[in-house]
Amino acid sequence: MSFKQLIGASLLMMFAVSLQAEERDVALMASACAACHGTNGHSVGGTPSLAGLEQLYFIEQMQLFQSGERPSSVMMKHARGYTEEEIRLLAEYFSKRK
Ligand code: HEC
Repeated sequence: MSFKQLIGASLLMMFAVSLQAEERDVALMASACAACHGTNGHSVGGTPSLAGLEQLYFIEQMQLFQSGERPSSVMMKHARGYTEEEIRLLAEYFSKRK
């Protein structure tokens, strides 16, 4: 293996590892939603399911909860704990749950 190939391979590996770490962090964040929205966003109670939600819709709802335009006793408090980036990651995560 040439030096260039070695560098290339290690960069690829670092990239893969950081992707895995991100996926795990998001899964951990998402588990905080499971109490109300069900495992992997599949709600069994009265709360809406998050699984398969359109990403833009998801982000918009979280912003509406944050601003208070969409009043909800629980979600208004909950949504404020997340940054824009975290919400984007959560939106992506839940949109991919089937
Ligand atoms: C304590 C219970 C509870 C927790 C925990 C919770 N939610 Fe909610 N969530 C609700 C309820 C109840 C609603 C319905 C909101 C309403 O209209 O009053 C809701 C609604 C939503 C909606 C809008 C869904 C739709 O179809 O319009 C989104 C998006 C959402 N929650 C995301 C999340 C995310 C992401 C988390 C975790 C970071 C989370 N929620 C954690 C109770 C909860």
